[in-house]
Amino acid sequence: MICVGRRRRRGFIVLGTRITDNEFRAALRRTEREARWLDIDAGTMRAQYNRTGFLVRHRLAEHPLFTADALFRLARRMPASAVKYRIGTVPGNTHFDSSIERFRGDLTLDDALDHLVDKRAYVALYNPEKDPEYGPAIEGFLAEIGLAARPFERFFNWYSTYVFISAHDAVTPYHMDREMNFLLQIAGRKTVQLWDPRDDVVMRPEQRDHLFSFDADARPAWHDGLPARAHVFELEPGLGVHHPFIAPHLVTTGQNFSISLAITYRTPSSDVMSDAHAFNDRLRPYGLGRIPVGSHPAVDVAKACAFRGLRAARQALHHARRRDKDGVAPEPGRS
Ligand SMILES: [Fe+2]
Repeated sequence: MICVGRRRRRGFIVLGTRITDNEFRAALRRTEREARWLDIDAGTMRAQYNRTGFLVRHRLAEHPLFTADALFRLARRMPASAVKYRIGTVPGNTHFDSSIERFRGDLTLDDALDHLVDKRAYVALYNPEKDPEYGPAIEGFLAEIGLAARPFERFFNWYSTYVFISAHDAVTPYHMDREMNFLLQIAGRKTVQLWDPRDDVVMRPEQRDHLFSFDADARPAWHDGLPARAHVFELEPGLGVHHPFIAPHLVTTGQNFSISLAITYRTPSSDVMSDAHAFNDRLRPYGLGRIPVGSHPAVDVAKACAFRGLRAARQALHHARRRDKDGVAPEPGRS
């Protein structure tokens, strides 16, 4: 069964870059001819990709754009809205989505960049791939992941990257994202606790589904059953860890300043999962959506198609109502 998905324009997917099948394949062809920065084992990918976390190797610490000095220069020229900062040490079970604002205190961006270690700061650069100097390099790393994932993914249709620069003992609180990720450690050490996203003790099926709602508190919170079920990865420069789709995680830095790059991405397959979760979330009150996503792939595709049909119908209805009310047609795609 085939149906065409469209990315939502409102809601939680606001960052990152959409890419077409052709653009992705062109990036793969360019990267096949160039030096490799990542070393992702094909056998490990075959056994574990998008099912459990696993370590990968890379050489980003040797890349001239990923030295601390180069990244600080990048931070100072990026749009202010793309540079998030806070005090680094926060409770691991704190609310992730509000942690940047709640734990900023009187820290300023200049303080965070000029006195990162003394101020025990955490700085996150959102979408460095939009910088003209960094874009080609990051697109190359993404394509290397794409080459490794080629047996399993038709193409990548969206990506978004983040550089994390943090002082010792910084914490990224427990949370889960709505995409896949390769987190690459460039300087210092990090401990990554990663949980199986399909473990019902970690997240119940309805909690996984609710991640794809527009609820501001869609991410389930920390609970006491989690520590015993964590898979722990110790990262150092040259190592990275793959995060499967929506895998919960909690990250702490070691005793030194840390730099890492997260390369997050989505694919047509993960879009099917997203829309099947959204179907379950919306239609559970009507007695539908009780079959957990991932248990029957054909059912997931059918749910995703049904959800996309409902979404398209709702948008068409919205357009028609606006036209009737205002006497003008809305711009295409601006519902
Ligand atoms: Fe994350």
